[in-house]
Amino acid sequence: VLRADLGEMEGIPLTQPICSTWDQVWKFKARPDDLLIATYAKAGTTWTQEIVDMIQQNGDVEKCRRDTTYRRHPFLEWYLPESSGAGYSGLELAEAMPSPRTMKTHLPVQLVPPSFWEQNCKVIYVARNAKDNLVSYYHFHRMNKGLPDPGTWEEFMDKFMAGKVLWGSWYDHVKGWWKAKDKHRILYLFYEDMKENPKREIQKILKFLEKDANQEILNKILHHTSFEMMKENPMANYTKELQDIMDHSVSPFMRKGVVGDWKNHFTVAQNQKFDEDYKKKMADTSLVFRMEL
Ligand code: A3P
Repeated sequence: VLRADLGEMEGIPLTQPICSTWDQVWKFKARPDDLLIATYAKAGTTWTQEIVDMIQQNGDVEKCRRDTTYRRHPFLEWYLPESSGAGYSGLELAEAMPSPRTMKTHLPVQLVPPSFWEQNCKVIYVARNAKDNLVSYYHFHRMNKGLPDPGTWEEFMDKFMAGKVLWGSWYDHVKGWWKAKDKHRILYLFYEDMKENPKREIQKILKFLEKDANQEILNKILHHTSFEMMKENPMANYTKELQDIMDHSVSPFMRKGVVGDWKNHFTVAQNQKFDEDYKKKMADTSLVFRMEL
């Protein structure tokens, strides 16, 4: 699987192992009390997972350290055969898990197994502005040998704009989930809002999950899920798993955790090209992103 080309499912580029198990993913049996955390990759998934777990564990940090995020919240579609040196089956983990389960997915909304909608499951979707999401995805491709080689920054940007990257078009992903939120129980959050006011966004999640947290617990959640704390937490920063696949010396999983780092990557010409294309692709949505705070 190392640096292998992507396969494709319903027009969406996915890894070959995911394609090879797709029938089982599609037939996955959701339960009514399942919670799904859905994102385009690198939009703040792990951060949201940690917040949700802290809420579910009533602010008990030790309980949240029981295992890595990768195993506490099964990554639904993700599959790595044993031969990759790091066997992982999100499906198997999820099926073996007692209720209530929390799972993670990067699937575009049309590829989410239908039983999630049949069971009226709750979903927390997190979106991040395209430019920072792209930068983060580029560095993630550099450090993660389970993904195709990103090529140069400029080449990767072109692939991202064309939707020819794992999990497909960012534009279609955020727009698709935005539409779906009017039909299903979806809490749609933004990375930029979480950075601006984490307390406010945590309170939105609490309300959505119908949970309470007193001031003390809220403070614990805020502290434990800050970038600084998560960077030092091996249970939340992918340093305890996938050691043959992720090379944190190339780029750490907890890289910068800010809004606006794209300014350190885009040239003026690249920015212009990106903006023109962005306007066209986002003309048919009411979705608005903040590229800086
Ligand atoms: P950067 O590469 O821009 O630093 P995901 O979990 O979806 O893979 O997203 C990873 C991105 O979220 C990385 O972005 C990472 O640094 C950032 N991130 C993770 N935890 C965070 C936190 N507690 N606060 C802010 N950003 C965080």
